[in-house]
Amino acid sequence: MDCVVAPSNRLTPTVITDIPGDKSISHRAIILGSLADNPSVFTHFLTAEDCLNTVSIFRALGVSIERFEDRVTVNGVGIQGLQPPSQLLDTGNSGTGIRLITGVLAGQLFSTTLSGDASIQRRPMKRVVDPLTQMGAHITGHAIAGKSDIYPPLTVHGGHPLSGIVYSLPVASAQVKSAVLLAGLFATGSTTVIEPERCRDHTERMMAGYGLEIKRDNHTIELTPGRLRNPNPKVPIRIPSDFSSAAFFLVLGAVTCPVTLTGIGLNDTRRTLLDVLVRMGAKVTITDRSGDDFEPHATIHVEPSPLRNVTIEGPDIPFLIDEIPILAIAALFASGTLVVRDAAELRVKESDRIAAIVASVRAMGASIIEKDDGFELFGTISVDGFVVESQGDHRIAMSAIIGAIAAGKSARVLGCDCIRTSFPNFFDILSRIGAEFSLVSA
Ligand code: S3P
Repeated sequence: MDCVVAPSNRLTPTVITDIPGDKSISHRAIILGSLADNPSVFTHFLTAEDCLNTVSIFRALGVSIERFEDRVTVNGVGIQGLQPPSQLLDTGNSGTGIRLITGVLAGQLFSTTLSGDASIQRRPMKRVVDPLTQMGAHITGHAIAGKSDIYPPLTVHGGHPLSGIVYSLPVASAQVKSAVLLAGLFATGSTTVIEPERCRDHTERMMAGYGLEIKRDNHTIELTPGRLRNPNPKVPIRIPSDFSSAAFFLVLGAVTCPVTLTGIGLNDTRRTLLDVLVRMGAKVTITDRSGDDFEPHATIHVEPSPLRNVTIEGPDIPFLIDEIPILAIAALFASGTLVVRDAAELRVKESDRIAAIVASVRAMGASIIEKDDGFELFGTISVDGFVVESQGDHRIAMSAIIGAIAAGKSARVLGCDCIRTSFPNFFDILSRIGAEFSLVSA
């Protein structure tokens, strides 16, 4: 499916109350809820393909999970309660799904095979296989000619006892950190992960919420294995709206048409795009902040103002890694040059996001210099009728659509089915704002 955008003079300031639940937290809700001794109810669960695949996987592992729309009851089976599945476990498009679940499966008595779509089968898995192997796991995967990593399908061979390790992450990856901590639940002794830069901390927060002993000291996280127990099984846990989905509308608000977004997750390890927009000169107001005991969230109002570009590097990168495609669009409405450095991780996301951003920006008629670990971008969206190929990457597709709408240009974004992996109501919200577009089969 392609999205054909036409210029609109009907864009209207809008209050958006239906940004869907956080993807990272929704995966962890199913995973940790399944391993708990008692039930958990989650509301505002993300009912997009990535997280629904995680639901199917834990059902296949013997967990009873009831779902009605975005309310999910996970009847936890306890740390020893997972059952062997009868088929291959399909994580679809989700790197988070495959990496975190591999950590859980490393500690089981039974063997399993995990895979996913064509994009997942090209995503590097050595980063989780290496530490899990050091813990005692036995995992085999596939090779790709000319590449030196390990790729799905992955077979996790059961019955290999795990021991806790002290592991320094070679890259600041929350998925790898989480895989190691999840395996640590099944290990003898404590497991320590040292991050080179801090990265999103949803796993540690939720583990602590389930009563586990988790110590954080600056860049070091230490887990003492134990049982997981929901302290209030009758009280539903509301998952905040996904900051990374809100980001598309925050940028639209900062460059074209005021928006107010309610209930948006504002975890310190996720909100850096907002701080960068403020540094660029955006007018942002945050109200109604709450939820600090689980995951903070708030109402965010953004309105257009003159923007100037900045440099993004070092410790900021893991905190806005998923927002760089839409930040690149914001930069096309700002003076000066956006410099992004230290972001080589973008090359191994759902697509090679540096290459995909470079191709999108050039199609829009702006200038960009590609670097191994980032880019330097300047100029504006000058081409009417531009065409962008999503490369099967939801964030590239949504960014290009927002760029066309904000610039008032016509455009065609090819391959938009992928948007359903993370943001099923993206197009509904665009319609309410007054965007003009049609969805056509390719
Ligand atoms: C995620 C971690 C990040 C992020 C991904 C979600 C998570 O990946 O890009 O979208 O939920 O842990 P890395 O751990 O590979 O940086």
